[in-house]
Amino acid sequence: MNITVIGTGYVGLVSGVCFSELGNNVICVDNNLEKVTTLSEGNVPIYEPGLKEIMNSNMKAGRLSFTSNIQEAISRSDIIIIAVGTPSLPNGEANLSYIELVAREIGSYMDSYKIIMTKSTVPVGTNDRIEEWIGSLTTHPFDMASVPEFLREGTAVQDTLYPDRIVIGTRSERAIAILRELHGPLTDQIIVTDIRSAEMIKYASNAFLATKISFINEISNICEKVGADVSRVAEGMGYDKRIGASFLKAGIGYGGSCFPKDTQALIQIAGNVDYDFKLLKSVVEVNKDQRFNIIRKLDEALGELEGKHIAVWGLAFKPDTDDVRDAPAIEIIQRLLDLGAKVQAYDPIATNNFRKEVDSPSITWENSAMEAAKGADALCVLTEWKEFMEINLSELAEYMNQPVLIDGRNIYAENQIADTSFQYYSVGRPGLTNIDGRKTAVL
Ligand code: UDX
Ligand code: UDX
Repeated sequence: MNITVIGTGYVGLVSGVCFSELGNNVICVDNNLEKVTTLSEGNVPIYEPGLKEIMNSNMKAGRLSFTSNIQEAISRSDIIIIAVGTPSLPNGEANLSYIELVAREIGSYMDSYKIIMTKSTVPVGTNDRIEEWIGSLTTHPFDMASVPEFLREGTAVQDTLYPDRIVIGTRSERAIAILRELHGPLTDQIIVTDIRSAEMIKYASNAFLATKISFINEISNICEKVGADVSRVAEGMGYDKRIGASFLKAGIGYGGSCFPKDTQALIQIAGNVDYDFKLLKSVVEVNKDQRFNIIRKLDEALGELEGKHIAVWGLAFKPDTDDVRDAPAIEIIQRLLDLGAKVQAYDPIATNNFRKEVDSPSITWENSAMEAAKGADALCVLTEWKEFMEINLSELAEYMNQPVLIDGRNIYAENQIADTSFQYYSVGRPGLTNIDGRKTAVL
């Protein structure tokens, strides 16, 4: 099939590359010329394992190209995928201005029947508006379809090529047949529904996953007070198939380009129809506060933070990505600076992106985990990068001014900590939290 993808962010680029991998001819369009040049030279502007290799092989095979010429791309394609960003407005609502712009461009360049497939996450009812925007500018027939994307950064290629399910929301039998054929090689689990339900499935899925995370984070806070171990609790819950084991990792809360934005947007969507989504509001509130447990634990271990040297490992919102959008590290580091601490920060790949969000003469940007820890009064692990798990902890303790370790992602096991001099705090594992002595207490 001949496909145009508009928007080469995480979602658009990965979708375009993966559809070409299935043998389709794909043109990816972006209005950012620099990005188009980078991509045309075979380079990927984001960090996503495995993406560059399959992108290059499909470019070589002549199935995948990049352009800023939206008109030409549209006229050469039967399926147009909209994947431009939908960032949050200050009130939490999704900003649809890029979507509208693109819809109007599609409308003006239509020259034959096409399927317009929306992958951007848009509020319920938006695809109907897209249909109106396009329809007001063309007499050519077209069908709208909402096909939400569920890929995760860091495993985006895998998630796209082997999805749990594909949701197709459309009212056209013709579009259903074509989109079933397009997605058939990916999975048998294809759910066909109406457009509004498809739009809601995306928000409801992300909101539910965010709820699981805030739920386990609250359980972890209670575990710390009652002497239970949240990792065991999550394991014990996860074997129940009705609950499931995933998204039950306690930590410093969720970040990223989707959960914070989509939960806020769903609260707004509900509010716009006079529904007070109390549960989701609490999920967001719990998430906002969870990150500051790092500061509370630092307070407990060090007292006054003014003038203290605090090492921070991990700036990305999760490992295997250089994305720092809504990363908990942003507010944690800002709070540390407000309290007068000096920060020694390290991330394997996200430092450059992070410095665009927060920078200060009180932060030193280090080139390795060990350098960041050198002379520090405490070390905070904010992202569970694999290289942090492989560090020799006894050596690490020697490097630091005081061996205080605040593990915001529970990356170290009891036996790793037991033989070290670390005063160790983790999340919801009080048996490993040594408050009054140097040695880690064992449950
Ligand atoms: C995507 C989805 O679009 C969003 O709705 C979903 O919730 C998360 O994933 P993402 O791929 O991360 O967002 O977006 P972003 O990285 O902002 O990329 C959007 C791309 O569209 C950019 O490359 C931008 O240059 C391009 N763009 C934007 C256009 O080509 N035209 C425009 O008018 C606006
Ligand atoms: C998410 C959704 O998973 C994906 O389906 C959607 O398309 C986009 O949003 P992503 O934001 O890439 O994907 O990452 P994800 O792996 O879901 O993690 C999101 C955040 O939740 C991260 O900050 C992560 O650290 C946190 N998280 C995740 C937890 O704190 N605990 C968990 O158990 C899982």
